[in-house]
Amino acid sequence: MAKKLSKLAICLLILFLIVLGISAVLLWLLIENPLQDVPFTPECLDTNLAERIDCIPDELATEELCHRRQCCWRPQENSSAPSCFFPTNGGYKVTEGPTYADEGFTAKLRRLPSSSLFGYDITDILLTAEYQTTNRFHFKISDPDRKRYEVPHEHVQQLDQKAASNLSYRVEVTNNPFGIKIRRTKNNKVLFDTSIGPLQYAEQYLQLSVQLPSHYVYGFGEHVHQQYLHNMDWKTWPIFTRDAIPNDNMTNLYGAQTFFLCLEDDSGLSFGVFLMNSNAMEVALQPAPAITYRITGGILDFYVFLGNNPEQVVQEYLELIGRPFLPPYWSLGFQLSRRDYGGIEGLASVVTRTRAVRIPYDVQYSDIDYMEEKKDFTYDKENFNGLDQFAEELHRNGQRYIIILNPGISKNLTYGPYERGSRKRVWVSGPTGPIVGEVWPGPAVFPDYTNPQGTQWWVEELVQFHKELNFDGIWIDMNEVSNFLNNDSLCEPNYLNYPSFIPRILDRRLFARTLCMDAEQHWGLHYDVHNLYGYSMTIATAKAMESIFPKKRSFVLTRSTFAGSGKFAAHWLGDNDATWNDLQWSIPSILEFNLFGIPMVGANICGFASNTSEELCRRWMQLGAFYPLSRNHNGPGFVDQDPAAFGVNSVLLNSARYYLNIRYNLLPYLYTLFFRAHTRGDTVARPLVHEFYQDSQTWKIHQQFLWGPGLLITPVLYSGVDRVMAYIPDAVWYGYETNVAISQRKEWMEMVLPRDKIGLHLRGGSIFPTQEPAETTEASRKNPLGFIIALDDKKEAKGELFWDDGETRDTYGKKLYFLAEFNVTRVRQLMEFFKVFFSQLATD
Ligand code: NOJ
Repeated sequence: MAKKLSKLAICLLILFLIVLGISAVLLWLLIENPLQDVPFTPECLDTNLAERIDCIPDELATEELCHRRQCCWRPQENSSAPSCFFPTNGGYKVTEGPTYADEGFTAKLRRLPSSSLFGYDITDILLTAEYQTTNRFHFKISDPDRKRYEVPHEHVQQLDQKAASNLSYRVEVTNNPFGIKIRRTKNNKVLFDTSIGPLQYAEQYLQLSVQLPSHYVYGFGEHVHQQYLHNMDWKTWPIFTRDAIPNDNMTNLYGAQTFFLCLEDDSGLSFGVFLMNSNAMEVALQPAPAITYRITGGILDFYVFLGNNPEQVVQEYLELIGRPFLPPYWSLGFQLSRRDYGGIEGLASVVTRTRAVRIPYDVQYSDIDYMEEKKDFTYDKENFNGLDQFAEELHRNGQRYIIILNPGISKNLTYGPYERGSRKRVWVSGPTGPIVGEVWPGPAVFPDYTNPQGTQWWVEELVQFHKELNFDGIWIDMNEVSNFLNNDSLCEPNYLNYPSFIPRILDRRLFARTLCMDAEQHWGLHYDVHNLYGYSMTIATAKAMESIFPKKRSFVLTRSTFAGSGKFAAHWLGDNDATWNDLQWSIPSILEFNLFGIPMVGANICGFASNTSEELCRRWMQLGAFYPLSRNHNGPGFVDQDPAAFGVNSVLLNSARYYLNIRYNLLPYLYTLFFRAHTRGDTVARPLVHEFYQDSQTWKIHQQFLWGPGLLITPVLYSGVDRVMAYIPDAVWYGYETNVAISQRKEWMEMVLPRDKIGLHLRGGSIFPTQEPAETTEASRKNPLGFIIALDDKKEAKGELFWDDGETRDTYGKKLYFLAEFNVTRVRQLMEFFKVFFSQLATD
């Protein structure tokens, strides 16, 4: 009997174990199986068309696919609204919390039975929110069970400071489905509301939609935006750094910028949103108004900044990511560059002819033609024989010399930098060793600047090369990172190279003309850190310049950027074309980079590709004299476009000289604006909406812009035109040349701008510090300083001047500067004081 019982017990135990096993497998299948088919009935309400969130953003929408994704199918004729859209149910729900503390809150979220786009959805995720400052709210959504990649940004780290007080916002969490809402305390307005669409959180696909309080959205990059104000009519912008020609095809370009600013209304109240994520992504703008982020990895890591006006929002943002570097004074001068000067003689002859025509001119560049076989850290001793003496001659003349460097390092065993880098193992590597691509020098490897060893190698090579060639600044190019191979047959067919979701990037291939995504870098997989390549190279180059010039500020110009690049470098807008169209979009782009904290920015004046024309180049030189970075750069084989090339008596030359002289005259004002950017995060080239937000006319203006608060610039941007419709914002404005106040105010006027003229107007109420121009800043800095005072209606004016020696590092931190505030009511007294002061400074 006992035997029988024990047999039964054993049988029962086995049965129990089998049942347990089956249930465990079922449970596992339910939780982990990516292709789980949980019973789910999508709730397809008659959502407002403008509020539909696209459920098939990645391919042509069909009813069959829509049903497979468990979304709603309602095609709508004559509308850009998606036919297949997310149901109102689904997403995640809060399962624990929110648990509140003084400094923020946390909540556990669990995936609801829901639509799934690409599978591999993560069931449990964690929301962490921090009230970081009075005006800054931070929240992130991560996987509590498995660490996902996060951007190792030097600035944006966990905050250890105490809870902020007097919050200008209030945050609400809705539990089922999960949503987060940020309100402005002052007026209770909802600024940021994610309940418009379901959160998606899968291994390689994150999606969050945000409803906004207004259509006035600016930012996101790097793209060609024909206008500064975003078009919210169903436009999708990919963000993934790429060496691509900047044209109108809505392609991803050199930089990855995930910041936008939203103007709430005409009170000026505005807020900004920054997503700290370096994965490939796209942002879809729709008329709700709403924005949907679709991201290939990392985590959702958002910062929301509230401001009383747009400038304050930019200041808040730059406080987080790092404020722009203070450029050396000489870099504010005019700069000349081209590829293929035709050896040292060609280069020297352009320098000579530019000097001969007395164009204010501070900086000469050399593009890759100065190198020996296009290899970094070399110069062509035949065609550029005497380049070292050429650099010294520039210096003797008070000018500076900048050379180009690329990340692609020639794979050549007899080439020192390659040999030393290989010994230090600094190249980005894939499963079979260093990745070999093809760039200017032929087969090339790519330094991993995220690896401290890689940075050290780069610094050492640069320090060494500087002993051979006395350059003053470095221009870093091709750092998206660019590779001439499109890699189609070279990258392994795995989940990194071929993820299920690929944003609308050029070629719809992540690895096209760059590295395979499964390459490894110190900061992570190339899949995750691709967008940081240029940023890490910029930091490494700035370090190198610090080793070379420990006491002096230097200058780094980078093509690829990320949030925070402006702390180290300037940016130009890449390979534009010599067309009127490209002249036009340069303004919105420059304004955008001012939002991104890279105010030292400009387009290639007169265009890089194709032959420019006299008329186009003349208008471009006039506008370019007011780019924060004023550089004329030309591509190989095109007609000369340096101003002197147009002839001694040409209108172009005279007009360029005239406006560059005005630029130099206003350099103390421009330098003070850069000081404010550096210390407070102000924009330098400023959209009208930042100063005149009360006036909704200014909200969409991008054919005019300001220097700081006071100088209005109205260029001619079309061929065959000598009058433009210019907006005159609500202030007194004086013609720069006439000193006469114009009668228009808060209205459009026809401004007559003959072939040699650009519109320049000074805002009443401003005081502009000036200095008599000269052919270089080294010379102009010895000239008398002065003021232009433009009185407002009340006959008042104010302004300021920041002044230092123009090149010592950290004059601000070391307090080696002079800062004056001017107020017109005390102007006479101050003039007397400063006359004495300035004459001393100028002779120092
Ligand atoms: C691409 C850059 O954008 C361009 O400015 C430069 O001239 C070429 N590379 C050659 O270095």
